[in-house]
Amino acid sequence: MPTYVVTGGAGFIGSNFVRLALERDAGLKVVTIDLLTYAGNLANLVGVPLERHTFIRADISVADAMADAVPDGADALINFAAETHVDRSILSPGAFARTNVVGTQVLLDVAREKGVKRFLQVSTDEVYGSLGPEDPAFTEAHPLVPSSPYAASKAGADLLVLAAHHTYGQDARLTRCSNNYGPYQFPEKLIPLMLSNALDDRPLPVYGDGRQVRDWIYTDDHSRAILAVLEGGRPGAVYNIGARCERFNIDVVRAILRELGKPESLIQLVKDRPGHDRRYAIDPTRVEAELGWRPEVSFEEGLARTIRWYREHEDWWRRVKDGSYREFYDEWYGDR
Ligand code: NAD
Ligand code: DAU
Repeated sequence: MPTYVVTGGAGFIGSNFVRLALERDAGLKVVTIDLLTYAGNLANLVGVPLERHTFIRADISVADAMADAVPDGADALINFAAETHVDRSILSPGAFARTNVVGTQVLLDVAREKGVKRFLQVSTDEVYGSLGPEDPAFTEAHPLVPSSPYAASKAGADLLVLAAHHTYGQDARLTRCSNNYGPYQFPEKLIPLMLSNALDDRPLPVYGDGRQVRDWIYTDDHSRAILAVLEGGRPGAVYNIGARCERFNIDVVRAILRELGKPESLIQLVKDRPGHDRRYAIDPTRVEAELGWRPEVSFEEGLARTIRWYREHEDWWRRVKDGSYREFYDEWYGDR
């Protein structure tokens, strides 16, 4: 039975990936390693087949803990674990350097020591910085000019992964994806925050003029691309992942309100994010041409699915928003 180690598998994208990978291959085993920071939630993994899934709570930046947690000879390690919210990185960048940079180096080292056959780093389009309105979309050759502490820490990790391949011949590869949305996304990020506020008729805080552009992809399409790169991609290569779906933030927020039948008067333009990147856009030609990957879910369909999911899982996001989602595992594992 092949075994994949998934770090950060209790977060948004990681948990959707674990579910999809186990569904797709009935012979696969997954070991999820996650610290369960505020962003990790065991409820995200509800329904995964327990006989093929093991969960370990541990910190990727602690080498001894990783040496204990990562099984010898695993077929792959896919690293989703990270501090991920740009606004938090502006307020306290230290944790981003520790988890995203040191943590990635620890995982690379442990993966080599333990004979893990393949390493895939899940990275982001934010490492490329910001585009002007008429610029072509980011290709893999675009320079790394990250703006926020979050983006800089991810760029640092990317360089460590490429260095491990170059120096030790380690089978390591990278994906850089655009903005994800879908079930189990923590309601600090744009779509679930706006959605959950609107459901409660609370104000929707749109930064600045709301004319920043993000390039959206449904999270299962991202997961399928990761599997394609893991199984068919080249060691040492970078693959951009995106669905060619640029939208102004304000238009995304309006679409959510329309779908929910709520008034635009809920929108509140608020102070802008410091150093706010104006536009991201991914050119996914390489992953399409080399691996035949294509997104399967349009933005309209994905947004409708996501809204349906949040309506049907009100208990999930209410427990996240009021903090009660932490009660049971803080009891088991101790507060962090
Ligand atoms: P998330 O914040 O929802 O989840 C991150 C997970 O990592 C959580 O479960 C958290 O508990 C865990 N974690 C954090 N620090 C850890 C540590 N020190 N040790 C072990 N686990 C730790 O994030 P997400 O949105 O699911 O993003 C997952 C990955 O994908 C990240 O690497 C992110 O940079 C990347 N990415 C995200 C997006 C996006 O739009 N969300 C787009 C492209 C790439
Ligand atoms: O591009 C990929 C990245 O997308 C990932 O690497 C990050 O982990 C992920 O957090 C995300 O970063 P963004 O900063 O683009 O996502 P966020 O959801 O925080 O914000 C999306 C846009 O919406 C951004 O332009 C800021 C704006 N925004 C966000 C929030 C939370 C608002 O206008 N109001 C808000 O309250």
